[in-house]
Amino acid sequence: MKPIDMTAYRPYKKIGTSCALRKIGPKQVIWPLIEHTDAENPNFRLRVITRKDVEAVAELWRASYPEVYGSIHEWILHPEAYEGRVAFFEDWKEHCVTRPHAVMVGEDLQANKVVMASIYTKWDENLQIEASFIAIHPDFRKGRISTSIWSNLASFYKWLEDSGAEYVTVFCETWHNITQYIWFKRLGWKIAGIFPGNFTRWAGGQQEYRGCTVHFYRFLNEGARYATLPEEWDLLPEVKELWGYLEKINAQSREEGL
Ligand SMILES: CC(C)(COP(=O)(O)OP(=O)(O)OC[C@H]1O[C@@H](n2cnc3c(N)ncnc32)[C@H](O)[C@@H]1OP(=O)(O)O)[C@@H](O)C(=O)NCCC(=O)NCCS
Repeated sequence: MKPIDMTAYRPYKKIGTSCALRKIGPKQVIWPLIEHTDAENPNFRLRVITRKDVEAVAELWRASYPEVYGSIHEWILHPEAYEGRVAFFEDWKEHCVTRPHAVMVGEDLQANKVVMASIYTKWDENLQIEASFIAIHPDFRKGRISTSIWSNLASFYKWLEDSGAEYVTVFCETWHNITQYIWFKRLGWKIAGIFPGNFTRWAGGQQEYRGCTVHFYRFLNEGARYATLPEEWDLLPEVKELWGYLEKINAQSREEGL
């Protein structure tokens, strides 16, 4: 974008007295490489997607998260849609900067199978990463591999932090509450809100509905320093009441670890 001269314009109101301000400059989230073998279980490895994995990963989503069929997220079911969107190991140096999505795969080295995948989305200019999707193959949900998956995912904090992101978000579907439990009770993220009808989701056959998602957030790196505090927010009394309640609930969100 060409620079524009903003000197003739003013923000609606002076904001930023409850937090630090900084000079606007280039903002960039860079995907750190993931390559991690579980010390407790050498058969489990977390790594970034390679082009060879694309079929298996798309199949994993079709088997585990078919609800995205017909939605804005349907691309994850289509192997050919990964090129151009996803950061591939083979071109990591370039893709870790340029690609909007990182895909982490969990591999069972004994079964030689991708048993878990998670997709992350970044917005450079907002220094934000969204943990967009996670699924464990139905055959590997309980037992040793599943334990390894969750305990190793705990290390993904460091990974998120190393990316330079300062605001991380996740949306949890509401057909179960497993991920709400994990993000709220074990990772300590805060509830941002409940979004009824946020995304279209597949009901089977050629039917769909609009599903409800619960959104969570967390600040990383310097994010909290630059975030305005409630004293500066001009809220309707009803919204203020809701915030008070949310704060009370969010005080119960703690990092218990995975
Ligand atoms: C979501 C998914 C990844 C969860 O994996 P899973 O292995 O089936 O999860 P589990 O039911 O074993 O739950 C993981 C842990 O959280 C605990 N847990 C989950 N929900 C809980 C709750 N409501 N209350 C208490 N504990 C809870 C489990 O007890 C377990 O901990 P433990 O191993 O120490 O016992 C998996 O079901 C999946 O791939 N689903 C399809 C795709 C999907 O729904 N993705 C997420 C959309 S938001």
